[in-house]
Amino acid sequence: TVTSEFTQGLPKAELHLHIEGTLEPQLKLKLAQRNHVDIGQKTIEDVQKTYDYHDLASFLAVYYPAMNVLQHEEDFYDLAWAYLQRAAANNVRHVEIFFDPQAHTSRGIPFATVINGLHQAVVDARALNVDAALIMCFLRDFSKESARQTLAQAMQYRDKIIGIGLDSDEHNNPPLKFARQFEDAAAAGLHLTTHCDIDQKDSIEHIRQALEIMDVERLDHGTNIVEDPDLVALAAQRKIGLTACPLSNSFVSPDMKGKEITELLKAGVQISINSDDPAYFKGYISDNYYAVAQKYQLTQAQIIQLAKNSFNAAWISDQQKQLYL
Ligand code: ADE
Ligand code: ZN
Repeated sequence: TVTSEFTQGLPKAELHLHIEGTLEPQLKLKLAQRNHVDIGQKTIEDVQKTYDYHDLASFLAVYYPAMNVLQHEEDFYDLAWAYLQRAAANNVRHVEIFFDPQAHTSRGIPFATVINGLHQAVVDARALNVDAALIMCFLRDFSKESARQTLAQAMQYRDKIIGIGLDSDEHNNPPLKFARQFEDAAAAGLHLTTHCDIDQKDSIEHIRQALEIMDVERLDHGTNIVEDPDLVALAAQRKIGLTACPLSNSFVSPDMKGKEITELLKAGVQISINSDDPAYFKGYISDNYYAVAQKYQLTQAQIIQLAKNSFNAAWISDQQKQLYL
């Protein structure tokens, strides 16, 4: 049987982790005080009381306002450093960290402040034996023009970013809305992924666009793909990485998508386990492995396969993969 010691000790890669989603209540309060930002909450209990959500939109309504406490480069550094220490404790050897520049630039924080703070933590993580990289996400509920400007800003920091993604509210915001930005990013040598959140209005159509038209290399969540066997076969054949997040799923739906995860493993899809927004969904990556293993009685062999998949779907060289596998 799979124990929590086993899931914690297993070397793994984390491929679906929003750095803003690692803002723990304690750090939120500390930064609020340090930056004189009134967030309307004074204690950890006050903060936790606001963590009341049942779907993507109600989660995002809590998530974005909290980011006001992030003001200076050192705040972004402290946020990322706190996560990277937890990653090390979870035996995460490689992590590709999402960040949402528009959630900050839209409230007057310079792009440079965000990326320089995060990047310094990425550099310092080598001392923790954690290999880290940054993926810039566009907020899909913002305009194409805003995404275009954001990509232009990112190009000044091209060497600090390995890829781009798409997150935030998926409702009526299909991947194809950003086809142009994805094409431009690919031309600049950036890797491509997109959220296809669970149980969205147009889940299958969004997955189809992402795989057949936009040539993404991974799907974040994406487990609704099981509804279309042809797309499952395509994902397996192209070695598309799917980044499932069981505890996050359990907040916005009645289950952790364990049946889908098992089915995709059987179909040979490179599906992995990740933590999404661990400060908000009650668990870091090892907790996610453990929760899904317990609830769906996954075997040790299945858990090991999920961890192997995380390295195989990572944006690292084959040589680097050999170090971990
Ligand atoms: N932003 C942070 N987490 C997200 C998720 N799981 N889906 C969409 N946007 C997000
Ligand atoms: Zn996510």
